[in-house]
Amino acid sequence: MTKEDCVKVLEWFSVAGVSDVARNSLKSAPICECDKISSLADLRQAVSQVDIPIKCCATNMVFGVGNENADILLLGEAPGAEEDKQGIPFVGQSGQLLDKVLAAVGLDRTKVYITNILPWRPPGNRTPTNDEILLFRPYVLKHIELINPKVIVCLGGTASKALLQTSEGIMRLRGTWKTIEGVNAKILPTFHPAYLLRSPSQKREFWRDFLTVMQSVSQFSENR
Ligand code: URA
Repeated sequence: MTKEDCVKVLEWFSVAGVSDVARNSLKSAPICECDKISSLADLRQAVSQVDIPIKCCATNMVFGVGNENADILLLGEAPGAEEDKQGIPFVGQSGQLLDKVLAAVGLDRTKVYITNILPWRPPGNRTPTNDEILLFRPYVLKHIELINPKVIVCLGGTASKALLQTSEGIMRLRGTWKTIEGVNAKILPTFHPAYLLRSPSQKREFWRDFLTVMQSVSQFSENR
């Protein structure tokens, strides 16, 4: 079977609501040996070697982009079609909206770092499964440790729940600072830009969350 055939079959399964193909084959996935990783280059290499079925449908791995010394790290869910094509996070429609909000608060991609929970696009843009999230969470924590931001903005429910390990929905989580053990940064869950494209009336809250980030980021540095 060619790679194209494999992509078509998996996308068909995904559209039909079947995700057990990926789930079952994840049971033997190797555990991240993250303790041995001390640079972004090593992390990129380790992530690229994770054996996971969604990889076979993807064109490019989408690792992270931006300022590696940034105070602010933006954490999304997973690449979409355009990100998969270019290998860069948030370059599609939702990324363009994100860029506008960043500009409105005086930020751009040279001042923040952007990554996702999953580095490969799930077939048919489906939501990452719990197993996929659990597999990649240690790599995400290592990514955060290496960037060492003061603030993490979780974009959307999937990224927020994955990082905070909670089942609470984004409507309840949004706009309230959180902390988790082992992460030396304040975490602010907010909406995913793709949701704002569907519900533009919520853009104001999203913008407010970024204003909160800007106001708080200098304060947080004093306590580190
Ligand atoms: N949505 C995400 O969560 N991440 C991306 O990189 C693009 C779209």
